[in-house]
Amino acid sequence: MATTLTETETVAAAAPVRMDVEDGIAIIRLNQPGKPVNVISAELVEAMHDILARLEGGGEGVRAAVIISEKKGTWIAGADIEQFKDFRTAADGEHASREGQKLLTRLERLVMPTVAAIDGAALGGGLETALACTYRIATDSSKTKLGLPEVQLGIIPGAGGTARLPRLIGLAASLDLMLTGKQLEGRRAKSAGIVDEVVPAPVLLREAKRAALDLANGKLKPSGARRRGSPKFAENLPGLRGFILRKARQGVMSKTHGLYPAPLKLLEVIDRGLDKPVDAALELEAKAFGELAVTQEARSLVHLFFASTAAKNSAPVPEGTKPKDVDHIAVVGAGFMGAGIATVSAESGITVRLKDMKHEAAAKGLRTARETLVKRARRKKLKPFQITAITDRVEATAEYTGFHTADVVVEAVFEELSLKHSVIREIEAHIGEGTVLGSNTSTIPITQLAAASSRPEHVIGLHFFSPVDKMPLLEIITHAGTADWVTATSHAYGKKIGKTPIVVNDSPGFFANRILTPYMAEAATLLEEGVSIEDLDRAMTGWGYPVGPVTLYDEVGLDVAHKAGKIMAEAFADRMTPSTVIDRMVADGRLGRKNGKGFFKYGSDGKKTEADESVYALIGVPQRKSMDRAEIQDRLGLMMVNEAVRTLEEGVLHSARDGDVGAVMGIGFPPFRGGPFWYVDTVGAANVVERLRALEQKHGKRFAPAKMLVDYAADGKKFFPEG
Ligand code: 3HC
Repeated sequence: MATTLTETETVAAAAPVRMDVEDGIAIIRLNQPGKPVNVISAELVEAMHDILARLEGGGEGVRAAVIISEKKGTWIAGADIEQFKDFRTAADGEHASREGQKLLTRLERLVMPTVAAIDGAALGGGLETALACTYRIATDSSKTKLGLPEVQLGIIPGAGGTARLPRLIGLAASLDLMLTGKQLEGRRAKSAGIVDEVVPAPVLLREAKRAALDLANGKLKPSGARRRGSPKFAENLPGLRGFILRKARQGVMSKTHGLYPAPLKLLEVIDRGLDKPVDAALELEAKAFGELAVTQEARSLVHLFFASTAAKNSAPVPEGTKPKDVDHIAVVGAGFMGAGIATVSAESGITVRLKDMKHEAAAKGLRTARETLVKRARRKKLKPFQITAITDRVEATAEYTGFHTADVVVEAVFEELSLKHSVIREIEAHIGEGTVLGSNTSTIPITQLAAASSRPEHVIGLHFFSPVDKMPLLEIITHAGTADWVTATSHAYGKKIGKTPIVVNDSPGFFANRILTPYMAEAATLLEEGVSIEDLDRAMTGWGYPVGPVTLYDEVGLDVAHKAGKIMAEAFADRMTPSTVIDRMVADGRLGRKNGKGFFKYGSDGKKTEADESVYALIGVPQRKSMDRAEIQDRLGLMMVNEAVRTLEEGVLHSARDGDVGAVMGIGFPPFRGGPFWYVDTVGAANVVERLRALEQKHGKRFAPAKMLVDYAADGKKFFPEG
C-alpha cells in the first residue's frame, strides 16, 4: 500500500536549505519550514554545513554560489532569538556564538566566489552571513533592511559582525550601525559600502547569477575588497582611532548612563580586536557575546522583543474576526498630531484626506506632513519620482469631501469633549457604514465620546504619542460597545503604519497616562518637599528613563499636564490628587518649553539651559532638601509599577505583556528593566510589596500595594512564569 505524507510530516521532512546547480552556479535557497522568517537555528547551521561540504568537495562543476531566500520579506532575520532563552551560563552563549562563527568562516573560506542575493531583512546573523560572502546585492524593496540590531537585545553581534564590518566599512561607520541597531534599506546600505549593488526584486536572481559568473571569471571585483583587511586609511592615523572610540563611549554614556552593558562591551571588543587577525577578534567576540547573553539586561530586552512582536501580531478579538483593509483614511484636525498621523499613514502606502476647518490650517498641516515625508524619504535615498508618489498621497481639504471612501477616520481636534462630540456628529454625516471612527484623545474616556455617536460600535480610541513619526506605540482603546471588526481593523491599521499596537479597555487615562499620572504627581510632591529640580531628574534618568519627570513636565506643557492631572484626580483622588506646584506654575504663566518658561530656562533657540531657581520661591520652597537617590527612585518608580498592576487587576489591560510594551514604548519605562511587570518578576513581588509598605508607612495610603501584587507575593507567583 502506498503511503502518503500528512501535511505535518511534509513540513517536518522539508529541508531548511536547498541547493540546485544552474549553469555552473550553486543556487542555495533558504526557506525554513514552519517558520515565518528564516533564522539561524541549529538545524539551519547543520544544513548549511552539509551544503558547504558539497561545495568544498567539488565534483558538481560549481564555479560560484548564490545565497537567496524563498521567504517573502526576509532573507535571514538573524540568530534564532528563542534559543537565547535556553542559555543558562555564559559558556552556553559563547558556544552558540562559536558555532555561528565556524559556519561563516567556512563560508568565507570557500575557494569559489559567493554572492548574497538579499531581498527582505538581513539582520544580525543575517547580515553577518552576507558579510562572509564575497559580494552582496540587495533589492530596492522597502522590506529590504540591513543592520546589526543586537545591542537592542542586550548582546553584541556574535557571528563575526564585530570583526568583519569594521574591516569592510571602517570603524566610525560600523560603530554608528552597531551602537544604534540602525537598519538600512538597499540604497543606503550601498552608500555605506555594505552592499555592492542594488537591483529591483524581480531581477535579483538573474543579477546575482550574472555577478557570480563575472566574479568567477575575474571580470568583477567586489567594491569592498580594497578596504577589506584594513580599516579606512584615515582611521589608522595616530590618535584618530582612539578619538573615535572615546567619542563613541562618551555618546553611549550620555545616552545610557552606563546602564546597558552591551554597547560598552562592543566598544571594548572592537578596540581590542581591530589590530588582531580576524580569528583572534572572533575569540574576543564570542567570549563577550556569551557574557552578555545571560545578563538581566539581555533577558529583559529579549522579553520585550517577543512581547512587542506578539502585541503586533495578535489583537484581542474572537478568532475569525476579519479586519478591513485600510488603504484610505481621513484625518480631522491638521495640527501637529493630525499632520503626524497623515505622515506615517502616507509613508505606509495609505492615501490621506487631511481636513481642518479653515483652508489655511489644512494647508499648513499638509505642508508639515509633506516636509517630514520628503525628509524621511531622502534619508532612505529614494528617487525623486518615489518621493513624489509618497507626498501625493496626502491631500488637504476644508470640507468633508472624500470621506465616504475612508476605511478609517481619525479625529485629532482639540482635547475638549463638546468639540469632539460635534466633530463626531459631522464626520458621521459623511462616512460609509464600514468606516472606523477613531479618536486621538489622550484623556477623554471613549465611552463618553461614543455617547454622541449614532453608531457607537464604530467608535474607538486611537491614542498616538507625540511626535507621531518617532514614537512606536499606538494605544487602542475599546469601550463596551466597540465592534470586534472595528478593533481588528484598528489593530491592522496600527501594524500597517509600523506602530506596535496594544488594545486596552476604556478607563480614565487608559493605560499609558494612567500609570504616568501618579508618577508625575509624586514628582511634584517631591519638589514641594524641597528636592531640587536637578536631583529629581538625575535620579530618574539614573534609573533609566530617557528624561527626568521635571523635564517631562516642561516638554508636555504644564497647562496640558495640569488639565490631565485634574481629570485623573477626579477618578483616583486617593493617589493622584495633584500638589499645588503645577497650579502655581500655570498661574504664573509658565507653560514649559513651548513658551520658554517652565521649571527650566530656555535660550533664544528654544533649547533648555538650566533649572530656573526662581521656581522654588514660586512653589513655596525656601530651602532645598537633599534626599537619597534610591528613595526618590523608589517613590517614583514603584508608584508607576504599582499603578500598572492595578490596571491589570481592573481589566484595563488584557495582559501583563501589553503593559510592558505600553510602558516602554509609550512613556519610556527603562527597556533594560523589561517593563513594570517584568520588573516585578525580576525583583520578586514580595520585594516590591515590602518596599511599597515601607513607603506607605512613611508617606501614606497612596503607596498601598495593589491587591494583585499582594496576592502574587503571598503565592510566589510571576506575571511571566515561563520566564
Ligand atoms: N528569532 C526568532 N524569531 C524571530 C526572529 C528571530 N531572529 N525574527 C523574527 N522572529 C519571529 C517573530 O517573533 C514573529 O513570530 P510570531 O509569528 O510567532 O509572532 C515572526 O518571526 C514574524 O516576525 P514579525 O512579526 O516581526 O515580522 P515582520 O515582517 O514585521 O518583521 C523582521 C520581520 C524585520 C525580521 C523582525 O521580525 C525583526 O526585526 N526580527 C528581529 C531581528 C533581530 O533582532 N535579529 C538579530 C538577532 S540576534 C543575532 O542575530 C545574534 C547574532 O549576532 C549571533
